[in-house]
Amino acid sequence: MTKCIVAVECAIEHSGKFLIIQRPQGVHAEGLLSFPGGKFEATDGVEGTDALLQAVKREVFEEVGIKLEDQIHYVTSSYFIETQTKSPVVDIIYRCEISRRPIDLKVCPREVPHHAWLTPEEIVKAPNCPEWLAGYLSLISRQKMTIRPYQPEDVQDLANIYYHTIHKVNTQDYSREQLQVWAPQTSLQTDRWAQKFAKTKPFVAIAENQVVGFAEFEPNGHIDCFYCHHEWIGRGVGSLLMKHIHKKANELGIARIFAEVSITAKPFFERYGFVTVTEQSVVKDGIELTNYKMEKNLVS
Ligand SMILES: CC(C)(COP(=O)(O)OP(=O)(O)OC[C@H]1O[C@@H](n2cnc3c(N)ncnc32)[C@H](O)[C@@H]1OP(=O)(O)O)[C@@H](O)C(=O)NCCC(=O)NCCS
Repeated sequence: MTKCIVAVECAIEHSGKFLIIQRPQGVHAEGLLSFPGGKFEATDGVEGTDALLQAVKREVFEEVGIKLEDQIHYVTSSYFIETQTKSPVVDIIYRCEISRRPIDLKVCPREVPHHAWLTPEEIVKAPNCPEWLAGYLSLISRQKMTIRPYQPEDVQDLANIYYHTIHKVNTQDYSREQLQVWAPQTSLQTDRWAQKFAKTKPFVAIAENQVVGFAEFEPNGHIDCFYCHHEWIGRGVGSLLMKHIHKKANELGIARIFAEVSITAKPFFERYGFVTVTEQSVVKDGIELTNYKMEKNLVS
């Protein structure tokens, strides 16, 4: 029977950048970008998670000379067949954010021909970034997103998200005229929003220390505003907000959640189990806008 290899890698993050290495010639995935790491080797008397954490610390130190002293978090595992040896490999990915500076980096040139500190955007744009590395970065970004209650200081961020998301994202489904009445220039002003949010107390999604989305959820199960920052579309912000709404509904014993959903957001709501009750036409300042009354029953 072929022996299964266990490998450990660590996404080392510092000031918003990750330490990325280029895999050397003659190894699996040669020339492609990767996090530092190496093959798992057992330490006598150490088992379970501790053994894996010791291995990732040791492998990172051997490859790039960094002592991982900050907290190490599990990200995910993957399975593949190594091209050279045809051995099955289980690859375990961790992440560690280093807060102290400067970092003592002593790269082993035999194992790492090239290395660089890169932002996630720079990594995914690189021609030798493999699909799986982009996937790990997306998972890390999702794991680091949080939801917190609205604070009055958020009001301008939320107004900006509302205005720019409608004009940059919903533009695929609505005319310029429709977008103007949905989000006029005045919607960037905060006075009315401040009054509304004081009552509705939205949930706010945070990533990389900035507000990246928000949702209003009323005690009767109604979802009102639900918007993600246009630069964060498709990166899990909507899912995080939607899961939070489901959790709150569950806590409050709400049996049905419902919303008036844009053409753009309809597939997203369907993905979370909402069904269309009716298509409707809303008239605002004499201009018609199509949206959908959608609902989801939480108790069967
Ligand atoms: C709709 C919206 C809230 C979704 O948020 P998001 O952060 O982009 O969604 P996520 O990244 O969490 O996506 C979750 C899933 O839904 C899918 N999805 C999201 N938007 C989609 C769309 N317009 N069409 C098809 N699928 C979509 C994603 O592909 C993803 O699927 P996956 O998990 O299989 O990859 C966001 O795109 C948005 O703000 N849209 C514009 C504003 C708007 O219309 N708001 C609603 C007013 S009612």
